Amino acid sequence: MANYFNLKRTHNCGELNEGNVGQLVTLTGWVRDIRDLGQLRFVTLRDRYGITQIVFYPENREIYNLMQTVRPESVIGISGIVLSRGENKNKNMPTGGIEVKAENLEVMNNSEIPPFVVDGYVGVSEAVRLEHRYLDLRTEPIQQTLILRHNITHSVRSYLHEKLFLEIETPILTKSTPEGARDYLVPSRVNKGTFFALPQSPQLFKQILMVAGYDKYYQIARCFRDEDLRNDRQPEFTQIDIELSFCDPEDIYDLIEGMLSKVMKETKGVDIQTPFLRLSYEEAMNRFGSDKPDIRFALEFTDLTKFFENSSFELFKAADGKFVKSIIVPNGASFSRKEIDILTETAKTYHAKGLAWLKYQGGTFSGSVAKVLTDSEKEQLVSDFGVKENDLILIVADNYKITHAALGAVRLDVAKKLDLIDNSKFAFLWVTKFPMFEWSEEDQRYSSMHHPFTSPVVEHLHHLDEGGDPSQMLSLSYDVVLNGFELGGGSIRIFQKDVQKKVFSFLGISDKEAEEKFGFLLQALQFGAPPHGGIALGLDRLVMLLSPTAKSIRDVIAFPKTQKASCLMTSAPSVVAEAQLTELGIELKK
Ligand code: AMO
Repeated sequence: MANYFNLKRTHNCGELNEGNVGQLVTLTGWVRDIRDLGQLRFVTLRDRYGITQIVFYPENREIYNLMQTVRPESVIGISGIVLSRGENKNKNMPTGGIEVKAENLEVMNNSEIPPFVVDGYVGVSEAVRLEHRYLDLRTEPIQQTLILRHNITHSVRSYLHEKLFLEIETPILTKSTPEGARDYLVPSRVNKGTFFALPQSPQLFKQILMVAGYDKYYQIARCFRDEDLRNDRQPEFTQIDIELSFCDPEDIYDLIEGMLSKVMKETKGVDIQTPFLRLSYEEAMNRFGSDKPDIRFALEFTDLTKFFENSSFELFKAADGKFVKSIIVPNGASFSRKEIDILTETAKTYHAKGLAWLKYQGGTFSGSVAKVLTDSEKEQLVSDFGVKENDLILIVADNYKITHAALGAVRLDVAKKLDLIDNSKFAFLWVTKFPMFEWSEEDQRYSSMHHPFTSPVVEHLHHLDEGGDPSQMLSLSYDVVLNGFELGGGSIRIFQKDVQKKVFSFLGISDKEAEEKFGFLLQALQFGAPPHGGIALGLDRLVMLLSPTAKSIRDVIAFPKTQKASCLMTSAPSVVAEAQLTELGIELKK
C-alpha cells in the first residue's frame, strides 16, 4: 500500500553536526523561514528537536522552483548531503556547523499564511496565540516549558515509585468534594435530575484508599474548580496528590523535601537546602503579612501597635482588634509623592483606609502623619526601631486581616520597585500551625481553613466541646511555599468518625447533610481507618516557578483556559443542541 509521504526522516532537525558531513540525510519538519541570498535559497527547517539550515542551489531547478511555492509553517521533507559551513559557522545554533544541500524536496502539506510569525513574534495578543495554539506551541519557549513539565513529572514519578508509592487513578465523574470553590457539574442522562461533580481534588478518594490499605498513594491528578481566575489559577489544573498512612507531619516534610530536591537537581541542576525553613502561620503573618511569604528579601514588618497605644491620633490609637504595622524602607525617602500614592492604591485594594508614611531626612520627620507625632515619639522611633537617615516608614492601621494583607501587598510592591528580589533564588519554606477555622464576617460563620477533613492538634480537640474556644484551635496542616506562591498544602486527617462528625457539626453541616454528602467517608471510617495524612502540590505552579520564561500559569499548560474560563481554540464552553438538553431533562431559563 502506498504511503502518504515518500521521504522518511533519518535524523531530526536538532542532531546533525560536523561529524555528519558528507552523509546523505533526510529531514522532515516545518518551514521556519525562507531567505534568498544571491542565487541561493536558504530554508530553516524546524521540528521539536531544533532547527537546521537547508540550502537550495539553482542548478537543481525543479526543487529550487518548487521551494518558491512553499509558505512558512508548511510541512516538507528534504534529502541531501550534509556540508560543513566552515568559516560561516553559526555558533548560536547547535546545528550551526553544518547545512544540508537539498537534492530532493517533498511538500507534504503547504500551509496557509499563518496569522503571526511563529518564531520571534512581537506584539501578538495572547488571545490570537491561544486561538491558534497549535502555532504557539511550536515556539521554543513553550516547547521548553512543556519539556520541563514532562521532566518534572517524570522525576516525581520515579521518586515516588522508588519510595513504594502506587499511582492510582480516581474518578473524574464523582461527587462534590469541598475544597472551597464552586463545582463544575455534569448532568446525568441515565438518572435525570441528578448531577456528577468534577473533583476539586481527589481528597476523599485518597482517604478511602488509606482505609483500603493502600498506604502510599499518589496521582498526577486533574482537578476542577469554578473560581475566580488569577495568574496562578486555572479552572482545570493538575496536582501531585499524595497520601500515606501511619504518618506524622515530619514524614510529609521529609518526603516532599526529598522530592523537591530531586526535581530541582534533575530538572534545573540546582541543589536546594533542606530541611526547609519553617514558620508558624502566626509568625509568617506577623513578619511578612502573608501565609505564603516571599522570603527572598527582608523588608519585614515592624509592629507599632504598642508604640501607638496612647497616641493622640485616632487612627493609630489602640483599640480592640486594631493592629498598627509598618515596614521601614531603607533609603525609601527618595520615593516621590506619586510613587507613594501608587503604593497607597495597592493598600486600598486590600481595603485599608490608607497608607500613612513618614520620611526621616536630615534628622527630622516629614510625611502624612509627621505632625501627629510627639517629639518623644519621634526620638523613640529612631532609638527603638532603628529608623535611619533617608528611611521611609509605611504604616497601615486596621483590623488583623486588612493590616496584614494590605501591608503584605505593599511589601511586595516595594521589593519589586527597589529590585530587591533575586530571581535566581528558590526560597522554599513550610508554613505550619494554621488555625483550624477561619471566621467569615460576610457569612457570619466559621469555615475550615484547610478543609473539613483536617485534624485538629490533638491537645486542642477539647475546644470542640462545651466551654471550648474553637477560635483558639490549631490544625495539623501545612503549606509548602516557593517564592511567595503557595505551592502545596496538606494535613493530617481526621480518622475517627466521632471527631469527624463533631467537626462537621461545628461547621454547621447537619447530620443529614453529612450523611448525604460524605456518608461513604463516615461509613468507611468505621471499618478500620488507619491514621493518615497527605499533601497536594500544584504541578502547574511548580512548572511556572521553575520555568525561566513562563509569565503565567497559562504558559505551562498545553491547552489553557483564558481568564474568563474559556478555550479560545475550541470555543468551549459552547451552546449545545436542544435535543441534547431534552435528553438530559434540562430546560434553559430564558
Ligand atoms: P489545596 O486546595 O490547598 O489542597 O490545593 C493544593 C494545591 O493545588 C494548587 N491549586 C491550584 N493550582 C492552579 N489553579 C487552581 N485553581 C488551584 N487550586 C489549587 C495549589 C495548591 O497549593 N485536597 C487538598 C490537599 C490535601 O489536603 O492533601 C487540596 O486540594 O498549588
